[in-house]
Amino acid sequence: MAEQAGEDGTDVDVSLVRPGADDLERAAEAALRPRRLEEFVGQRVVRDQLSLVLEAALGRGRAPDHVLLSGPPGLGKTTLAMIIAAELGASLRVTSGPAIQHAGDLAAVLSSLEEGEVLFLDEIHRLARPAEELLYVAMEDFRVDVVVGKGAGASAIPLSLPPFTVVGATTRAGLLPAPLRDRFGFTGHLDFYSDDELERVLVRSAGLLGAPLEAAAAAEIASRSRGTPRIANRLLRRVRDWAQVRGDGRMSLDAARAALEVYEVDARGLDRLDRSVLDALCRRFGGGPVGLTTLAVAVGEEPETVETVAEPFLVREGLVGRTPRGRVALPAAWEHLGLVPPSAGGTLFA
Ligand SMILES: Nc1ncnc2c1ncn2[C@@H]1O[C@H](COP(=O)(O)OP(=O)(O)OP(=O)(O)O)[C@@H](O)[C@H]1O
Ligand SMILES: [Mg+2]
Repeated sequence: MAEQAGEDGTDVDVSLVRPGADDLERAAEAALRPRRLEEFVGQRVVRDQLSLVLEAALGRGRAPDHVLLSGPPGLGKTTLAMIIAAELGASLRVTSGPAIQHAGDLAAVLSSLEEGEVLFLDEIHRLARPAEELLYVAMEDFRVDVVVGKGAGASAIPLSLPPFTVVGATTRAGLLPAPLRDRFGFTGHLDFYSDDELERVLVRSAGLLGAPLEAAAAAEIASRSRGTPRIANRLLRRVRDWAQVRGDGRMSLDAARAALEVYEVDARGLDRLDRSVLDALCRRFGGGPVGLTTLAVAVGEEPETVETVAEPFLVREGLVGRTPRGRVALPAAWEHLGLVPPSAGGTLFA
């Protein structure tokens, strides 16, 4: 298993089907990123809205409103930020909430911006408070107060900035303070992709990798990709490896199935940890309710790992439910394990 930084910056174990990415993976992803809006698969609503915002701004010859992109990891926020700059023919400056330690760091970035530039602020919900306040003023009034001197003799010199566009990205829009959210003229929320859309992502990526992908294999990989293009592209690379080493180079349905079996990604995109949580819940605890800590001990993991790594997808898929008395297996969980759920009115909520 690879180590990678989780959403909150802590290191967590990941498998092939976790939505986050480490630096190595981000480098591999760069080659597969759509460069223009028309290449960007799916997210029709956001794409339409964004294309209006951009075209209108281009027509007026002015920098567009600030754009906020929110949504779970791996759905295309960074990709869209780059596309926005490309569509505007503007250069892109990239920084992130955690990279800005002090308000002064942000002031330095802002005061060096050139007219029309796009400033991409990734993980904007992790921006420190003082930097956030500086950003409000910069976004609204295109002004930054540069503090000179120290202590009682310090004074703030207002510096006016050329028009620019902030593109903020966040996986946690709910954590953004309202005043910051309000300063974005347009917010695009990215949703999970349909299997059809993921198939299109896969076909496009296979083309770029120069690796032949059969339609049935694309459908198979898509259905195990948890609605997330990053996971789809990652599974594709593993299937390509299998086809190259153990197959005839072609990514056929058989190759896809065999490769994903090697990597223990099952038909619903669950990995070993996900399945062991389901298994413990159904077989050991009769479907629950069982407390998180007990469940975690049963699968030999930390409660936090079960809660933050495995559970979100299991809950989203309707496999596991959270109740005040603990976790419960939902009927789909029994079905997925090939088990018969206890009869209604049985032990579940007794
Ligand atoms: N709509 C799309 N069409 C084609 N490929 C996509 C699309 N969205 C995302 N991808 C691919 O998925 C990968 C991950 O996308 P991206 O880095 O933009 O996600 P993100 O939302 O910024 O994730 P994070 O929150 O982890 O930063 C990239 O390789 C990108 O090429
Ligand atoms: Mg990103």
